[in-house]
Amino acid sequence: MSRVALVTGGTRGIGAAIAVALKEAGYKVAANYAGNDEKAKIFEAETGIPVFKWDVSSYEACVEGIASVQAALGPIDVLVNNAGITRDAMFHKMTPEQWNDVIGTNLTGLFNVTHPVWTGMRDRNFGRVINISSINGQKGQMGQANYSAAKAGDLGFTKALAQEGAAKGITVNAICPGYIGTEMVRAVPEKVLNERILPQIPVGRLGEPEEIARIVVFLASDDAGFITGSTISANGGQFFV
Ligand code: CAA
Repeated sequence: MSRVALVTGGTRGIGAAIAVALKEAGYKVAANYAGNDEKAKIFEAETGIPVFKWDVSSYEACVEGIASVQAALGPIDVLVNNAGITRDAMFHKMTPEQWNDVIGTNLTGLFNVTHPVWTGMRDRNFGRVINISSINGQKGQMGQANYSAAKAGDLGFTKALAQEGAAKGITVNAICPGYIGTEMVRAVPEKVLNERILPQIPVGRLGEPEEIARIVVFLASDDAGFITGSTISANGGQFFV
């Protein structure tokens, strides 16, 4: 029987690459998304991966959405917490709304999505939780006090939950992508991207979403059963922990 994987924010960017790679690796995959119906429809038609719409910043929506995924595909064995947003602003210009939106999706979202699947993973003595954090949670980034705080919080969440899951066959790991060539990074002002960010990446290019997806496929596999509580950096040499 194929294992079931849920990828949040799974219809675009890094999440879409992860969903496709897991499908190619033999998983039954569900892709969650929050807003962009048009992109989600195209993704579903092109990949055959079913899409499920809900907002990960709402606990109630997560409980309901996960119930519909499990009704359609079966119990979730692999959870990839990938959904994330940016609301970049220098701190002196950052609004409480920009702070709360990013914390709500990028940090509280991990609680909201993981909590409803956790008991089932414990009961079945197997689970994989893979959290997509960020280089900017490791090093901090000007213009991203909200995002850096949330992504650093994701790493603490990963390490705490790994300890709770270990005796129950559940591994919990984080991946910290650097700057990957997605819409999110391409939304950075071109001058900042070209003059400030690219020169800081020793390999001299943005990463590809598939380079993150391949790490997820490995962490989800039985081969990775001894890896838990880890943070895997994939950032082209931009930052060493
Ligand atoms: N690295 C280095 N310097 C940066 C920078 C960065 N990432 N972002 C901004 N700066 C510099 C600018 O070059 C500028 O310097 P100068 O005055 O010397 O030219 C200064 O900071 C102020 O920037 P702006 O003039 O752009 O100020 P602003 O108020 O108009 O905008 C900002 C500020 C919204 C933060 C905008 O600069 C911005 O969007 N910067 C990019 C921030 C960033 O790196 N976001 C990452 C998004 S990708 C992501 O989050 C995915 C991931 O996980 C890696």
